[in-house]
Amino acid sequence: MEDFKPFPHFATDALHAGQEPEQWNSKAVNPPISMATTFKQSGPGEHAGFEYGRSGNPTRNCLERCIAALEGAKYGLTFSSGLAATMAITHLLNAGEHIISMNDLYGGTNRYFRKVAARLNIETSFVDCTKIDDVKKALRPNTKMVWIETPTNPTMQLVDIKAVCDIVHQQPDVFVVVDNTFMSSYFQRPLEHGADCVMHSLTKYMNGHSDVIMGAVATSNDDIEKRLRFLQNSIGAVPSPFDCFLVNRGLKTLHVRMKEHMKNGLAVAKFLEADPRVTKVIHPGLEIHPQYELGKRQMRGYSGMVTFYIRGGETEARDFLKALKVFILAESLGGFESLAEHPAIMTHASVEKDEREKLGIHDNLIRLSVGIEDTADLIEDLENALTAAVGKE
Ligand SMILES: Cc1ncc(COP(=O)(O)O)c(C=O)c1O
Repeated sequence: MEDFKPFPHFATDALHAGQEPEQWNSKAVNPPISMATTFKQSGPGEHAGFEYGRSGNPTRNCLERCIAALEGAKYGLTFSSGLAATMAITHLLNAGEHIISMNDLYGGTNRYFRKVAARLNIETSFVDCTKIDDVKKALRPNTKMVWIETPTNPTMQLVDIKAVCDIVHQQPDVFVVVDNTFMSSYFQRPLEHGADCVMHSLTKYMNGHSDVIMGAVATSNDDIEKRLRFLQNSIGAVPSPFDCFLVNRGLKTLHVRMKEHMKNGLAVAKFLEADPRVTKVIHPGLEIHPQYELGKRQMRGYSGMVTFYIRGGETEARDFLKALKVFILAESLGGFESLAEHPAIMTHASVEKDEREKLGIHDNLIRLSVGIEDTADLIEDLENALTAAVGKE
């Protein structure tokens, strides 16, 4: 894996940041699951850092400090889902203010901006953020937030985080958020490229075991942290201590898992690229990817996300997905197991057909979240499913 350049200290931080045994009377090596909803005070208003479980919890605190370290941020905050994190960030805006986001965006974020934030009189412009001039043109005097997702889902376009931040920060009081879900903190650290906040659906790679729904925000901006901490408590969309324990545990193997996702993802992408039953493969680690150089500059490796077009149409795509034996046909991504899905029918069904076609989400597009199984078994599964759907090469 010649492209692989880990962040210094990442593995040590994943294991130890926020986990000091000295913080517990028991000196527990792993954070206990602190289920208490309220904490004893020695006198009214005199407490040991925790008052009520919504405003703060010891297990959550360990996780939040670990996430901050992994993103190279001062602060980490967790929420009950990725979308709850998105909602809290959006509540930093006032009615009448404006968001710039992307036309190629996770469907749930798109729906939240269009159908929920819009009702609060917060308008969003959906632009092609791969074109820096389009971002510049979309800026208005009342723009307060720019929301980027890179790579995009499912077409794996990359946005130049630094270029967007350089343009946007010329206007005072506009902050940039990067949804880092597809890369995880292991392969991309947006704050180092000038972003103000990083958002994660921890549900995906960060937890990595497909058993928790949770979200996070990391930032080094004192003002943003203070206001988000207030919103975390005031909105109340906080995760459970048990889920915090699980995600904290998942982070301990993030660096190990991501290397395997990268190895298998690249192997699958190269196998598909060479197969005539596949008309196009999209993976930022393939030299044919139009933003290959940007990817090398901005990311330290590649996750297990691979998108491809099968020769044929919806019928071939359906037959392929039904024939898979190791890959599981399911939504979501980033768990240790390999998943496959049909974006036009599944994850992106809420995007209008015209819009889907413009973005390249055609009926023969298939998205894979390549897991950490044996590489040869994954390739054999894809080979067999291609034969079942399209026939022999
Ligand atoms: C890129 C991205 N951002 C945000 C989310 C929302 O996260 P959650 O499902 O944890 O609310 C998802 C979920 O699929 C996602 O893929």
